Amino acid sequence: MNTLIQFNNIRISLSRKPILNIEKLIIPSHQCTLMTGRNGSGKTTLFKIMSGLLKPDHTTVEYQGLTMDWKQAKPYIQKDIIYLHQQPYLFDASVAENIAYGLHRNGENKSVAHNKVMQALDWANLSHLAHRSAKQLSGGEKQRVALTRARILSPRLLLLDEPTASMDIEAKKQTSELLQRLKTEGVSIMISSHETHTVDHIADHHLHLEEGVLTSLELKSNTDNVTVLNPSRHTK
Ligand SMILES: Nc1ncnc2c1ncn2[C@@H]1O[C@H](COP(=O)(O)OP(=O)(O)O)[C@@H](O)[C@H]1O
Ligand SMILES: [Mg+2]
Repeated sequence: MNTLIQFNNIRISLSRKPILNIEKLIIPSHQCTLMTGRNGSGKTTLFKIMSGLLKPDHTTVEYQGLTMDWKQAKPYIQKDIIYLHQQPYLFDASVAENIAYGLHRNGENKSVAHNKVMQALDWANLSHLAHRSAKQLSGGEKQRVALTRARILSPRLLLLDEPTASMDIEAKKQTSELLQRLKTEGVSIMISSHETHTVDHIADHHLHLEEGVLTSLELKSNTDNVTVLNPSRHTK
């Protein structure tokens, strides 16, 4: 198992309340990690730290052969790690324009951007919705547009915050198909959920967040990939 990125000693308190105290978080390359934890356990907080949106009180980041503090790591992680909000924000514009947004922001040439958008729509089976107003889409369709918009920026790690929480079975199926495809393309994925069985068939690892501490659990479907990240919790 190759490691894409590793975070050590992530600590953060919010309003003087300790929220996270994670000894070690290893994200394997090209794999999908499921993180469960009840509401309020700190899943979103962790994702924001990992994607460069929220500064923790402490962490070190090991990435691309470098060991950095969070501030030094921020430009790398902001480029390579994309955080997808639970309710993706789409602009009041067409689906195609929404998907093109990140490319324009990065100064991509117009015709190159257009081709990339068309390809991306095709990849996500969203071509028929290209000119539809994004505001009119269903929750599942919005999530797929947000995934496509993220993919077009070639992230190395996608963090999905409770992506299937408000989806019906068909939308869940379509989303997991896209996630499976992203995995095949070499994107690492981490999915948070307050339920255990969201998209567990595409997950290779299962982490559980409780009282600010992360432990590794066995995946029902795959018991080979088990490592205990916080052994002290198991030796009470
Ligand atoms: N800006 C903030 N100020 C104070 N407390 C916060 C803030 N953001 C989140 N929290 C608290 O941190 C804890 C973890 O929140 P969160 O990361 O959103 O959990 P989850 O995503 O697992 O539901 C909760 O107790 C929440 O109330
Ligand atoms: Mg959350």
